[in-house]
Amino acid sequence: VRIYVPRDSAALAVGAEEVAQAITAEAASRGLQIELIRNGSRGMFWLEPLVEVQTPQGRVAYGPVQPEDVASLFDAGLLQGGAHALGLGVTDELQWLRSQDRLTFARIGVTDPLSLAAYEEHGGLAGLRIALSFAAADVVQQVLDSGLRGRGGAAFPAGIKWKTVAAAQAARKFIVCNADEGDSGTFSDRMVMEGDPFMLIEGMAIAGISTGATHGYIYVRSEYPHAVATLREAVTIARAAGVLGDNVLASGKAFELEVRMAAGSYVCGEETAMLESIEGKRGIVRAKPPLPALQGLFGMPTVINNVITFASVPIILAKGPVFYRNYGVGRSHGTLPIQLAGNVKHGGLVEKAFGITLRQLMFDYGGGTASGRPVKAVQVGGPLGAYVPESQWDIPFDYEAYAAVGAVVGHGGIVMHDDTADMSKLARYAMEFCAIESCGKCTPCRIGSTRGVEVIDKIRTVDAQTRPQQVKLLRDLCDTMVNGSLCAMGGMTPYPVVSALNHYPEDFGITATGREAA
Ligand code: NAI
Ligand code: SF4
Repeated sequence: VRIYVPRDSAALAVGAEEVAQAITAEAASRGLQIELIRNGSRGMFWLEPLVEVQTPQGRVAYGPVQPEDVASLFDAGLLQGGAHALGLGVTDELQWLRSQDRLTFARIGVTDPLSLAAYEEHGGLAGLRIALSFAAADVVQQVLDSGLRGRGGAAFPAGIKWKTVAAAQAARKFIVCNADEGDSGTFSDRMVMEGDPFMLIEGMAIAGISTGATHGYIYVRSEYPHAVATLREAVTIARAAGVLGDNVLASGKAFELEVRMAAGSYVCGEETAMLESIEGKRGIVRAKPPLPALQGLFGMPTVINNVITFASVPIILAKGPVFYRNYGVGRSHGTLPIQLAGNVKHGGLVEKAFGITLRQLMFDYGGGTASGRPVKAVQVGGPLGAYVPESQWDIPFDYEAYAAVGAVVGHGGIVMHDDTADMSKLARYAMEFCAIESCGKCTPCRIGSTRGVEVIDKIRTVDAQTRPQQVKLLRDLCDTMVNGSLCAMGGMTPYPVVSALNHYPEDFGITATGREAA
């Protein structure tokens, strides 16, 4: 009998290892034969550790399971999917999963992440094989036609970037995966690396063979030791199976991959600072142009994409660009793995086609706040994303629709706050975060963020008469940071600050028109 216990960090953090050990010990003491598979997480974090058992009706789920529940689970007939207080029924029928559009996350939580055989059984490598049968330019065209845009946050068309690199003439070219997932409330990259690493490897290999790059790097944030270990193991397995190396699946084409542990700095997720870091230098932002697509790693043409972007490519090749393009709305094609975090009852990962609303995500999936209090504010798109007020919760998740209201979809991270949140404190935190993480290259960010903390402190403490003047100063400072910073760190920090000021003026002691509260 197959029993599944996740090996994902989110599950390990709440005791999955101990549960796995307890299941092995309990089965042995009862003389029962089991096959324990360590899968990725299904993304229902409030139910972790989620234990599943294979039955003739499908996989049956139990959760959240603690080691002390294991004996009673066996008493209840765990191996037959027996009834138990922690029983959730057939996993695939759970509403949370059934209602999603799991394209990228189709295998995650289902298979053993390090079984290449299971990967292939569930559709893996089909995209790479098709790509190898096409001319390189046609592969790039498929990515272009799919409408796939960079999932790291900037949403630049992936196909255009690949085309630029493919057309560049150079002695060497590189593929770099940005896995320095630093945004607050985001974990989809980590889940891919820990839950389905071959999908990322396959996507990068397709990028390599279609642009003429023979070497790739995965730059993984240092806070992700499990992801680094899983990826390294997966790369070794893929190399032994001919997915990587001098003769990628016997095509005669070469593609090699290296996993690099990042430097532990938020700004190293900015693409040019990341290149500096891979080159062994301090993670300081480079001025653009030149674009990395033309002069990137070691001065050579480089495709830089986020984990989810590369991970979306195999299915595009396997099922065709039209299949992928037909998901979504407007110019936001395909699906986005959205991450629900903060003060949320049901936190985790939801993969949906673009077009879903924040209200649906927070309430239909998230179930509202964990505290049970009303949602006051929600930050979308990481620490540089705007706070989205209730009046905008019905706007479809779509890059352009969000930009139109001064917000960002970003990497799809959603952090919820209840009505006890003080928005002036959160605005101060945004400036403080920027001051700590700034690479120091440009003045608006380096100096502006520190001045920003001081001005917000003043707004919070001065008398009502002086306050409007300080608020004006803060707005001017934000304007300078947006327009004068070299990269998104300083350029986007004002998003949470100004949105907090605009939508929650009472928390700054001012009225909506910017005058002091009575
Ligand atoms: P950007 O708009 O400058 O560039 C986007 C990408 O397109 C880059 O790779 C750039 O090199 C490339 N590009 C632009 N024009 C091109 C052209 N003509 N040909 C080929 N390639 C071209 O944005 P940036 O500064 O790279 O990223 C900012 C975004 O990063 C923000 O929107 C934010 O949401 C996101 N972000 C994500 C984080 C995460 O943890 N995933 C953390 C912090 C920020
Ligand atoms: Fe460095 Fe900040 Fe300027 Fe970006 S905006 S280059 S992080 S100082």
